[in-house]
Amino acid sequence: MNNNLNFTGRSLYDLDSYTIEEIETIFETAKVMKEINKRDYKKIPTLRGKTIATLFFEESTRTRISFELAAKRLSADVISFSSIGSSVKKGESLQDTVYTLNAMGIDLYVVRHSSPGVPQLVYKYSQKPVLNAGDGRHSHPTQALLDMFSIWERKGSLKDLKITIVGDILHSRVVRSNLIGMSKMGAKVTVCGPRTLMPPKVEKVYGAKSEYDLYKAIDGADVIMALRIQLERQSEGLFPGLNEYSQRYGLSKEVLKYTKEDVLIMHPGPMNRGIEILPEVADSKHSIIIEQVTNGVAIRMALLFLILGGKAN
Ligand code: CP
Repeated sequence: MNNNLNFTGRSLYDLDSYTIEEIETIFETAKVMKEINKRDYKKIPTLRGKTIATLFFEESTRTRISFELAAKRLSADVISFSSIGSSVKKGESLQDTVYTLNAMGIDLYVVRHSSPGVPQLVYKYSQKPVLNAGDGRHSHPTQALLDMFSIWERKGSLKDLKITIVGDILHSRVVRSNLIGMSKMGAKVTVCGPRTLMPPKVEKVYGAKSEYDLYKAIDGADVIMALRIQLERQSEGLFPGLNEYSQRYGLSKEVLKYTKEDVLIMHPGPMNRGIEILPEVADSKHSIIIEQVTNGVAIRMALLFLILGGKAN
């Protein structure tokens, strides 16, 4: 780990602006945070006196709770803002919302919004570091970091691993951030799903292989990540039905016959059990889905620690 890297005051919009060395430093720091989270007393005083605001304009379970827990474990104060029940419902603009919160002395913002680019706007209005907790279909970098960290911890490195991501590639911010990060870390990524849920030029834009046949896509895979099928897409006619989708792209025990023996099964959540992944796989010995959630707290602690001035050691 390089202790000379400077994270202080930086925002995280997506992984394109973070180097391999920086990502590895985040992983090493998360390893330390994970140990802290295993203690009886799961708290360190590092961010005492700092105030972190989580701004969620869209639903979340994992990301919001794990950011808030991460901040509290580092002893920061946490302001939890949700557009539901706020003055946004009375017509207050994003700009005025941020000006209002900023006037109360916020040190860092965590932002989820359905529109791409809102984290950058929050930075513009606040001049404080902003961590993107998911912006529309665009990116979800802390999810990608925790996904990559989960693989890195288990396999030692991402270099040359065959990683297959299955599902709605077109609408997934998780995929976009993972494609940037995983390719950067040297993994060989294949994306797989129905043609109607596949973006154009995946190979050219992200250096990933695209495949429409699940069994070809997962052949020899070290890691398979299933994505949530966004149920609202069915009404848009992008796939004929949930049963058909599940039969063609759902992860059942059958897929484990084609992968490496020590394949890791992942899902960023929330899961539609029985559609994109069957319980026999989601709960199998290969699954690290629950570990991903545990690692999410450690990754977010590492980011808050590094960005708000802690030193990597
Ligand atoms: N993976 C993820 O972003 O989950 P939430 O929507 O529950 O935060």
